[in-house]
Amino acid sequence: MQKIKAGVLGATGNVGQRFIEMLGNHPWFELTSLAASDKSAGKKYSQAASWRLDNKMPEDAGDMTVVPVDPKKVDADIVFSALPTELAKTIEPEFAKAGFVVASNASALRMMKDVPLIIPEVNPEHLGLIDIQQDERKWDGYVITNPNCTTIMMAVTLKPLVKFNIEKIYIASMQAISGAGYDGIPGMAILDNVIPYIGQEEEKVETETKKLLGEFNGSEVIDAPFKVSASCNRVMVIDGHTEAIWAEMTDDPSPDEVKQAFLDFDPGLSGLPTEPTPVIEVKEEKDRPQPRLDRNIGGGMTVSVGRIRPGIRYICMGHNTIRGAAGASVLNAELLKKKGKL
Ligand SMILES: NC(=O)c1ccc[n+]([C@@H]2O[C@H](COP(=O)([O-])OP(=O)(O)OC[C@H]3O[C@@H](n4cnc5c(N)ncnc54)[C@H](OP(=O)(O)O)[C@@H]3O)[C@@H](O)[C@H]2O)c1
Repeated sequence: MQKIKAGVLGATGNVGQRFIEMLGNHPWFELTSLAASDKSAGKKYSQAASWRLDNKMPEDAGDMTVVPVDPKKVDADIVFSALPTELAKTIEPEFAKAGFVVASNASALRMMKDVPLIIPEVNPEHLGLIDIQQDERKWDGYVITNPNCTTIMMAVTLKPLVKFNIEKIYIASMQAISGAGYDGIPGMAILDNVIPYIGQEEEKVETETKKLLGEFNGSEVIDAPFKVSASCNRVMVIDGHTEAIWAEMTDDPSPDEVKQAFLDFDPGLSGLPTEPTPVIEVKEEKDRPQPRLDRNIGGGMTVSVGRIRPGIRYICMGHNTIRGAAGASVLNAELLKKKGKL
């Protein structure tokens, strides 16, 4: 099978590195362009992205020369965007206009009416917005987005609970420092500390969740009718967002019924290389899930849940730069390929 040419915009950052790790040996995609700022352009990738987390850089990627974030300099059919939001707002439309498929992590376009915000296990039918976007904007390419890293974990666990008629969701997050980017939080601010504020995060969780679980009626997405109330905190963890969730539901299910709904959850995607098994893992131990122990389950794509109590209250946890970012975009791109959109 001829591989699809893939570029990464923002290739040297936290999420960019995860993209390269995930695309380097992908069965359907071939890394053909790595793009970053003028500071990095012209350098070998291994020099431009000299700092490393625990990522494994594919050997070939280290020798590639970084190019500027410019549609004329990027050779690809699809670009995965890990650009800062302000930049994404102007650059992603430029790429779509120039004919690229753009799979974006940035928040800039997520809530636009004609831009699909997708989690393959939650709302693949929202891909219907692609045709509307291309018609309205007269673009040869298009933009598809994945949600904020906190929203993704929660929305995956809410999907199997929709049948109990969700009325209101409360969430308190404990978010890893990698979610703020490499330069995001000074060590002196976060060591021995919890920061009870993450700019714009609560608004993103509250609005994106309703779009994701909303209904696509053939021309637009109607937000889900329930309320979401979020409180987001930064904690001293490198990777893995933990979330305490309170879900009020009309049918008042028991903890056992909720646990069974998680265990039975099968989105029926089958055949997507990055799809995890299971999508949701139920942890039975009283003190799980924990980021250090559970964030790499399913290659970092599984969302773990535990402590399901009456109310309903439970904890969920997932890897923020894999399930919550790069892996989410790669899974979206695999869905596009499966649906013949790529
Ligand atoms: N981290 C997460 O868990 C997470 C989760 C979901 C979504 N996101 C979103 O993903 C995006 C990237 O986040 P990150 O954590 O990877 O950020 P990051 O570590 O700060 O990386 C930013 C990337 O953008 C490039 N860049 C910055 N300014 C640029 C410019 N003027 N022109 C071209 N390239 C430029 C940087 O290149 P240089 O190295 O050359 O400066 C770098 O490759 C953000 O929109 C973020 O909100 C992040």
